[in-house]
Amino acid sequence: MTPPIIRKRSALRDLATRWKRSGETVGVVPTMGALHQGHLSLVRAAKKECDRVIVTVFVNPKQFNSPEDYENYPRTEEEDARKLTPFEVDAVYAPDGAEIYPDGFATTVSVSGLTDALCGVHRPGHFDGVATVVTKLFTQSMADRAYFGEKDYQQLQVVTRLSADLDLGTAVVPCPTIREEDGLAMSSRNLLLSDRARTWAPELNRAMEEMADGLLRGGDFETLKTEAISRIDRAGFTEVEYLELRSADTLELLQTADRPARLLAAAWLAGVRLIDNIAVG
Ligand code: PAF
Repeated sequence: MTPPIIRKRSALRDLATRWKRSGETVGVVPTMGALHQGHLSLVRAAKKECDRVIVTVFVNPKQFNSPEDYENYPRTEEEDARKLTPFEVDAVYAPDGAEIYPDGFATTVSVSGLTDALCGVHRPGHFDGVATVVTKLFTQSMADRAYFGEKDYQQLQVVTRLSADLDLGTAVVPCPTIREEDGLAMSSRNLLLSDRARTWAPELNRAMEEMADGLLRGGDFETLKTEAISRIDRAGFTEVEYLELRSADTLELLQTADRPARLLAAAWLAGVRLIDNIAVG
């Protein structure tokens, strides 16, 4: 049976309140739909650790930088429900815009520091939109645990910080990036790639892996970065927005992997913005 779909925050609250009163733990998997194996790995982790699991599906207008990007974002609700069926989740929360942002909504949650770099610079306002909706989803679902992929590494750091700072009582659980066989990180945006662009897309990850190897062998950061960018350009990407080494916890900028570090990149391929990150060391 496909999971029950809840549209109203009051219904979600009632359900979560009932579960919590009977001592059950609630896990939430926040998504914008167009579910792929990456999302399903989060659901699998939540099912293992929580008595009740809610998957949220809401394409959040506040985190998009352009109306076209918001309009073009893939929406596949029926297919999503079908994919979730084998997992027997307790509810899919798929509210409309007014349930999340009712008339007169005037609050923005903003996390400073962690958002001053990477996607925070290239997508102004994006993380305010993410932080605001995630705060609402955590409070509406009353979740004990929330599952996020490392694929969106900066987002993971931001929501971890906000949940702790605002005492939301929701523990953020990081889960590894799931990749296609050719190394491309799974993302709902991959659906927007043409067949041709899809064959070029894994070069981003390959260039990053090569650069990470070079860094671990003591290579010079700028030389390796130039080589990686020309490999990505040759593959057909039109722009590398950033390719940076940062400390894994604070996202401080690094030149050498002298502590746990991440190599993070964003690049444009045939009109689609792809992001990826890998651990270095
Ligand atoms: O990662 C996503 O899909 C979104 O940013 C999230 C966390 C569901 C908030 O809209």
